[in-house]
Amino acid sequence: MIYLTRREHFNGAHRLYNPRWTEAENDAAFGKCANKNWHGHNFDLFVTVKGSPDPDTGFVMNAHDLSKLIKREVTERLDHKNFNLDVPELEGVLPSIENIVVQIWKWLEPHIKGCQLHCIKLIETENIYVEYYGGN
Ligand code: NI
Repeated sequence: MIYLTRREHFNGAHRLYNPRWTEAENDAAFGKCANKNWHGHNFDLFVTVKGSPDPDTGFVMNAHDLSKLIKREVTERLDHKNFNLDVPELEGVLPSIENIVVQIWKWLEPHIKGCQLHCIKLIETENIYVEYYGGN
């Protein structure tokens, strides 16, 4: 089994805020991330697929095709967007990177052919990232 990873980049804004909580509870849980006027990040996205190299190409998946797929399914939806307001699939979802990677998986997984989606890794800051391998 070979693992192939493609990196992409996008910018976005969000606010971490639970509408069922008071302002004080939100501030306690989310700190600056609850700022009502939003804040932004430069996100690095790593998408990993796994499989066996094709005998004709030597590729698990054509990395250029994977890049085009990520741009079409993910970057076009998220880049320069406000995740709380601009992304229909995230409506009512608290746009933490944990919840965003689950949505990215849903966008990409149906389009991965000839190999399997293995991991979505999303880096929010140089100190914080999440990895999602599907499932719960
Ligand atoms: Ni944030």
